[in-house]
Amino acid sequence: MRNGVLAVALFWLSGAAMAAIEIDVLARTCNNCHGVGGVSVGTSMPSIGGLPREYLSTVMKQWKYDERGAATMNRIVKGFSDDEIDALAVYFSKKRWVPVPQSVSASLLAKGKDAISENCEDCHGLTGSDPDEDAPKINGQWAKYMQLELEKYRDDGFKMPHRKMKKTARKMKQADVPAAAHYYGAQSK
Ligand code: HEC
Ligand code: HEC
Repeated sequence: MRNGVLAVALFWLSGAAMAAIEIDVLARTCNNCHGVGGVSVGTSMPSIGGLPREYLSTVMKQWKYDERGAATMNRIVKGFSDDEIDALAVYFSKKRWVPVPQSVSASLLAKGKDAISENCEDCHGLTGSDPDEDAPKINGQWAKYMQLELEKYRDDGFKMPHRKMKKTARKMKQADVPAAAHYYGAQSK
């Protein structure tokens, strides 16, 4: 009887340990594009370390089940089980969010700030560091990446499931798109 319990306990332990190792290996495959610890060094690649667990798992499942359009990620997550996606979301949500503040001209900064305080602050906060729970942090996220994403939300034919974000993005004046992206990209906190 005791041996049986021990065997079960050992089996369970080794299962958990193996799962932890596998997620480490799987997460390393993300480094090429998203950087070590999810801090990206490529301007059109988003940082993902320290984003909310719920957001990370939601977007990856939307790609897996073809509910969200993408250039790349939809193909990457297709082979993952939902458990692997959840484990990746936990893994990256535990990393620290490291903003990469990018320099920008004073005039673009001022234009961006105006656009944001009018249309975006309620959900993202003025610097992007204090988002609603279903939104990611965007302070010091790469401006070029954010500009590309905003164009996806604005594009009628592109599948982006978040209705409110889509609606707000579509209301933006074209010139405010790069301004807002660069404003958030310039924020360190
Ligand atoms: C070949 C490059 C590449 C690899 C490898 C890659 N990604 Fe991505 N990732 C992208 C691109 C590009 C985007 C922007 C969405 C798109 O167009 O696909 C993105 C977006 C994301 C986002 C959304 C970020 C946000 O702020 O909304 C998450 C989450 C993500 N990737 C997670 C992962 C995870 C986890 C892995 C490893 C299992 C991974 N990615 C591997 C290229 C990559
Ligand atoms: C109603 C709340 C709301 C408003 C208003 C809003 N956002 Fe968002 N935003 C969100 C949410 C939630 C997401 C994530 C949506 C998803 O899952 O696709 C998001 C996503 C984004 C992203 C993509 C981030 C990433 O990592 O991929 C950018 C960039 C962005 N918002 C910028 C803006 C700008 C600029 C404005 C103002 C013009 C704005 N948002 C207004 C809630 C909002």
